[in-house]
Amino acid sequence: MPIETTASVVAEVSDDPELLAVPYTSDLTPAHAVELHLPVPDLLAHYEAKGEAGEVVEVPVARGGGVGRVLLYGVGDGSPRALRRAGAALTRRAKGKDTLTVVTPGGDVAAFAEAALLAAYSYKIGKVGKPAVRTLAFAGADEAQVRRAQVVAHAVALARDLANTPSSVKDPAWLAERAGESGLPVKVWDEERLQAEGFGGILAVGRGSASPPRLIQLSYTPDQPTDRHVVLVGKGITFDSGGLSLKPTDNMKTQKTDMAGGAVVIAVLGALARLGVPVRVTGLVAAAENMPSGTAQRPSDVIKHYGGRTVEVLNTDAEGRLVLADALAYADAVLDPDAVVDVATLTGAITVALGRNVGAVYSTDDALAKQLVDAGQTADDRLWRMPLIEDYAPALKSPIADLSNVESGSKFGAGSITAALFLREFAGQRPWAHLDIAGVGRSTVDEGTLSKGATGFGVRVLLEWLTRT
Ligand code: BES
Ligand code: MN
Ligand code: ZN
Repeated sequence: MPIETTASVVAEVSDDPELLAVPYTSDLTPAHAVELHLPVPDLLAHYEAKGEAGEVVEVPVARGGGVGRVLLYGVGDGSPRALRRAGAALTRRAKGKDTLTVVTPGGDVAAFAEAALLAAYSYKIGKVGKPAVRTLAFAGADEAQVRRAQVVAHAVALARDLANTPSSVKDPAWLAERAGESGLPVKVWDEERLQAEGFGGILAVGRGSASPPRLIQLSYTPDQPTDRHVVLVGKGITFDSGGLSLKPTDNMKTQKTDMAGGAVVIAVLGALARLGVPVRVTGLVAAAENMPSGTAQRPSDVIKHYGGRTVEVLNTDAEGRLVLADALAYADAVLDPDAVVDVATLTGAITVALGRNVGAVYSTDDALAKQLVDAGQTADDRLWRMPLIEDYAPALKSPIADLSNVESGSKFGAGSITAALFLREFAGQRPWAHLDIAGVGRSTVDEGTLSKGATGFGVRVLLEWLTRT
């Protein structure tokens, strides 16, 4: 379900708002002039407010013969990061209310409003708790910034919705239908066409499932296109059981979100027109369900990827790289991009390295890596650049094929790095970056801008990057 909260802009605070929020800074001074008829400094002192971002002090006020309330909210140092915390905290406090009127702080209003909207997101099937606030009315805010926030937040929500959808509903064909709803030209390869054109990786991963695989392509062309063409590739494993290299129960139960990268690609492509992105962008989603069965691929099978490279499959649970390899090779051979960025919940190992708050970026191109790290910092999808350590490349040597999909022994380790090295083999000589979002693709907490389950990580950094390029 999309975010049910709408953001609007009002010129000024109405006479009798249902619930009003007013900012104050870390030195406990009001961050905006508004006549409250309240002893604000005394109240803040009384409640031992510190002025931190995320702090909300609720004070009762006389309202229409009864008692209403005002939320005094801290904005800390007023940085975008602080404003995001403040915005998210406000929405969470306003649960169940019809309208929250927010006296807007100075600074990055887009970041503030975006976080406020994201904090309203939840995914539920069945009984719902307290509904999110219906309307956030930003008083005195810049219309364009609030609109941008709305477009970005809705794109993140779409990515979350797709990834949170149970795998009993979202097979590869379903994902292709959702991609079609973006309103962009879409091309879908079914299993016959995948076979005819040699997409051996996608087919091998999908062959154990009763729901056949798909390759999905979305095309965005701006009104006045620049010369630049970017290809985004998403891992679209609609469920990852591990295949015959079956996962244990505890590891398997989170794997409906193994198409989170594909969801990011669909959501990003759908938002480009509304943000006026000037570059041409093609999105590819390599979609398959990884299941064990009598028709499943076996550990030791050798498969042939798009373009002819052969791979010995030693572990059917290293399936993401197999579907991505086909899509990357196709992008390189056919789409002629200036840059390729793939997004994938690729390895459990990256969670060990970077945890749940920071995603990994690998790249063959220093400028591209820097652009993505910078965009991530601004957009609050934080990325850390990881190294493509050349010494570990021999880990993927196979005695019988061009490559193996995993290391056969345990000499090298570094599971996220070797996975990235595998992908690099298929990206050709073009500037390429790979985002391993296995750690950040899901949240275990319901706080700030995060809700439990899919996070939509990747949408904000890619939209920010594409807006800038
Ligand atoms: N989808 C998983 C990675 C993953 C793990 C994502 C946990 C989110 C949470 C991926 O397909 C996988 O199974 N990777 C293996 C690779 C291994 C077999 C080399 C892994 O990380 O264990
Ligand atoms: Mn797997
Ligand atoms: Zn997977």
